[in-house]
Amino acid sequence: MSNYKLIFATNNSHKLREIQEIIGDSYKIISLKDLHFKGEIPETHDTIEGNARQKARFIFDKTGLDCFADDTGLEIDALDGRPGVYSARYAGEQCNFADNIRKVLSGMENATNRKARFRCVVTLIFKGEEYSFEGKVEGIIIPEKKGAEGFGYDPIFLPDGFDQTFAEMPPYLKNGISHRGKAITRMIRFLEAL
Ligand code: IMP
Repeated sequence: MSNYKLIFATNNSHKLREIQEIIGDSYKIISLKDLHFKGEIPETHDTIEGNARQKARFIFDKTGLDCFADDTGLEIDALDGRPGVYSARYAGEQCNFADNIRKVLSGMENATNRKARFRCVVTLIFKGEEYSFEGKVEGIIIPEKKGAEGFGYDPIFLPDGFDQTFAEMPPYLKNGISHRGKAITRMIRFLEAL
């Protein structure tokens, strides 16, 4: 399976970089940019599983090629599991990462329980069959941003057992313990066992 080609159904350049780092060179990841696909990928379900599946199906239906997609949510206990499946647009349709972080922190000003987790579901469509892989990482939400690496909610997420936020860690460290790292590693093990 070495040098096998897989399409990664995302327009998110941060995710693409992370996935390439996690997978190394045993698989060639084809991005949507490589395919000259410029449109939006629909993401209209109200579960992470549903969205991962929808994104992978959408690209498979267009190309007929082996592909995978991920969907991630940050689940914060003090916010009853929000932003969860709405993590990308938590502060509104046109929001950016800073707006989302601001909304999370303002909703947690008086929170004593700061527990949270990133949950990632990867859907793989391989030879027309669908497979799903999950990865989770537990941690806490700190009250101020720290670090400039990574993306999204990384500057306020401190994983359990570490004294650096995801945004303070070098990429190899985040990828080694992250939700996405775990889900993708599970997918690769599955492909390697075929
Ligand atoms: P998506 O729906 O899987 O694209 O992810 C939803 C949102 O979750 C993204 O726009 C980011 O804000 C956030 N997110 C996803 N993965 C990560 C991560 O690894 N670190 C921090 N934030 C993330």
